Amino acid sequence: SDTEKGTYPHFMLKEIDEQPFVMRRIIQEYQDERDRLKLDQDVRNAMKACDRIYIIAAGTSYHAGLVGKQFLEKMAGIPAEVHVASEFSYNMPLLSENPLFVFISQSGETADSRSVLVKIKEMGHQALTITNVPGSTLSREADFTLHLHAGPEIAVASTKAYTAQIAVLAILAVDTARAKGMKLDFDPLQELAIVANAMEVLTDQKETIEELVRDNLGTTRNAFFIGRSSDYFVCLEGALKLKEISYIQAEGFAGGELKHGTIALIEEGTPVIALATQENVNYSIRSNVQEVAARGANDMILSMKGLEQDTDAFVVPHVHELLTPLVSVVPMQLLAYYAALHRDCDVDKPRNLAKSVTVE
Ligand code: G6P
Repeated sequence: SDTEKGTYPHFMLKEIDEQPFVMRRIIQEYQDERDRLKLDQDVRNAMKACDRIYIIAAGTSYHAGLVGKQFLEKMAGIPAEVHVASEFSYNMPLLSENPLFVFISQSGETADSRSVLVKIKEMGHQALTITNVPGSTLSREADFTLHLHAGPEIAVASTKAYTAQIAVLAILAVDTARAKGMKLDFDPLQELAIVANAMEVLTDQKETIEELVRDNLGTTRNAFFIGRSSDYFVCLEGALKLKEISYIQAEGFAGGELKHGTIALIEEGTPVIALATQENVNYSIRSNVQEVAARGANDMILSMKGLEQDTDAFVVPHVHELLTPLVSVVPMQLLAYYAALHRDCDVDKPRNLAKSVTVE
């Protein structure tokens, strides 16, 4: 059942493995009998009517929001910005004339996000909550809800909720584009089916990832994740996963920012994990890898099929370039999992963390 581990040693591993099924469930739930996208007309109308989207979230959900912003801007042509919930009210952005607030929250109970929701409702604005728990506080108090259909997520470190959030945001962006009469050369349901298959290939490669961990992350104190464009957002999530459960000090940053500071930290043997799934930055991220390698870093390149070189540590199957975060995050999750396991950490219940934080 959904709330039992079954044969799995940890909920986290079970939830990583469930991701292909979650993708397929989302495809089913958001598809009508005629293979068209199925969304509440109210949500559609609100998306059509707004002139700017303000995404509010925390933690892993914030990282999904960064990817979602790209979908909304690139596919639906709606300007979007992403805010960390706890920071929003200190430096509230100037709002557009018809803003729509989108709250992304696995639990729907995060207090930092709720306080923003209360505030913007007082101001008379509309809110859509994207959550895994439809009856949750953020869902009840918002005007509209989109359900993630990821099934209960028990491990503190979020995995399948992150990929479900990105998938639903892609569907929302495409649906909005279509509602606005825009022509898009992108069928999200078809592309997500390809993603589901790719995820399955990846979850079958646990041994390879475990070996990478043994060779590169066994005893290290720190680790860096570098990427450009959407790979950068996945690097933030990869670093967060590693920090949360293995307690390795990890940082994700944009490849181009290396030279502006972080490269000072690279020493002999420092692990640097580079993501290379985007054709337009493949050359530049690889030159960043050369820069760190020249300073002794222990580099590992995770690339996408079609962009790979034979020295790459790991290659993920090819998917649509907008959806690469859905697949490249899977080896990142597994890296964190095996790093935690190797260090005898409590994978499902890391120290100092809670599954949902209901205090501000
Ligand atoms: C906590 C959890 C994180 C999660 C964040 C936001 O800090 O430990 O894994 O990403 O809350 O939670 P939410 O339920 O709002 O997505």
